[in-house]
Amino acid sequence: MKALILSGGKGSRLRPLTYTGAKQLVPVANKPVLFYAIEDAVEAGITDIGIVVGDTGEYVKAAVQDGSRFGARVTYIHQPEPLGIAHAVKISRPFIGDEPFVLLLGDNFVRDGIAKYVKVFRDEPVDCQVLLYPVSNPQDFGIAEVRDGRVVRVVEKPKEPFSNLAVVGIYFFDHHVFEATDAIHPSWRGELEITDTIQYLVANGFKVRALPLDSPWIDTGKKDDILEANRLILDLLEPCVQGKLDSESQVHGRVSVAATARVLRSVVRGPAIIGAEAVIEDAFVGPYTSIGARCRIQQSEIENSVLMEESSITGVARRITDSLIGRHVTVTGNSSRPQAHRLTLGDHSYVVLSGPGA
Ligand code: DAU
Repeated sequence: MKALILSGGKGSRLRPLTYTGAKQLVPVANKPVLFYAIEDAVEAGITDIGIVVGDTGEYVKAAVQDGSRFGARVTYIHQPEPLGIAHAVKISRPFIGDEPFVLLLGDNFVRDGIAKYVKVFRDEPVDCQVLLYPVSNPQDFGIAEVRDGRVVRVVEKPKEPFSNLAVVGIYFFDHHVFEATDAIHPSWRGELEITDTIQYLVANGFKVRALPLDSPWIDTGKKDDILEANRLILDLLEPCVQGKLDSESQVHGRVSVAATARVLRSVVRGPAIIGAEAVIEDAFVGPYTSIGARCRIQQSEIENSVLMEESSITGVARRITDSLIGRHVTVTGNSSRPQAHRLTLGDHSYVVLSGPGA
């Protein structure tokens, strides 16, 4: 069995981060969300992995390389344009051959892995197997109707949803999927839809099994989804303080401090992770925060946030919360006159300022 992981697409909901990187490389607990999918496949015994990449392919290749550090062999498949999930499957046929495979969307995050669903698919093969998860916003997902454990209907983002069961971005197929991807046509949004592919299989008498997904699942398309995935992982963090902690600092709860990080005159209240060579000085790092490698937090407070590599927060008077901050970002406070906000923001940046008269 093989795995096909999609790491192309546009990532428009995560701008501006996706101008300079792939959305699948945004970190959750200091690890790119894509790495969780690779590790899930390997944990389930699948080491022959194809990764579909688009415009941001160079970033993905630099991060994953040949896959050997995951114990996998990775083949890259270039998708010239994001013409749909089913299009990505279609162009991956030379890699897949006739083997059954699991298709993983590289921005989907599932906390408890995929091994048990791989086992069901291996032990009792069907043409297609999907995983379903109840959601409160079914109009944002592919939605399925199920009878006796079999899918009888799937519709992409229905305006009037007929169920609250979202089709999760973890799909299992045998080679019949290529008959479907050859037969379907682009949808109103110009994409070959994976839901139309599954609907084709249903309508043409192929067996499509539905299993409930019984692990938390997040489609990490937006900032708050990344923060939620970050909270899920940090809740499982093994406390491990290896870095330098001076006598005036305190660390409480589930906290991981990398060996080369330094915490000086600061309080870190977990769950929190501090990456390699980061410096926390006269600062507070609160629950559910991931501080990336080589970041600096000085005379500032931050919680429930993800800070990517090599960024700094210095002398900010109010606590920063619920924030996703990219690489090489500088945030500084200002105590001199005039008391004003001074901003240099890229396109599609999003800033919330608070304070008296802000
Ligand atoms: O998250 C689950 C949902 O994923 C399903 O319920 C939907 O049925 C399915 O269509 C999909 O919906 P999204 O609108 O969230 O898909 P998105 O465009 O975000 O693409 C999902 C991943 O696949 C993302 O990592 C980018 C990658 N991708 C996407 C397209 C359209 C590609 O690599 N190539 C593509 O052409």
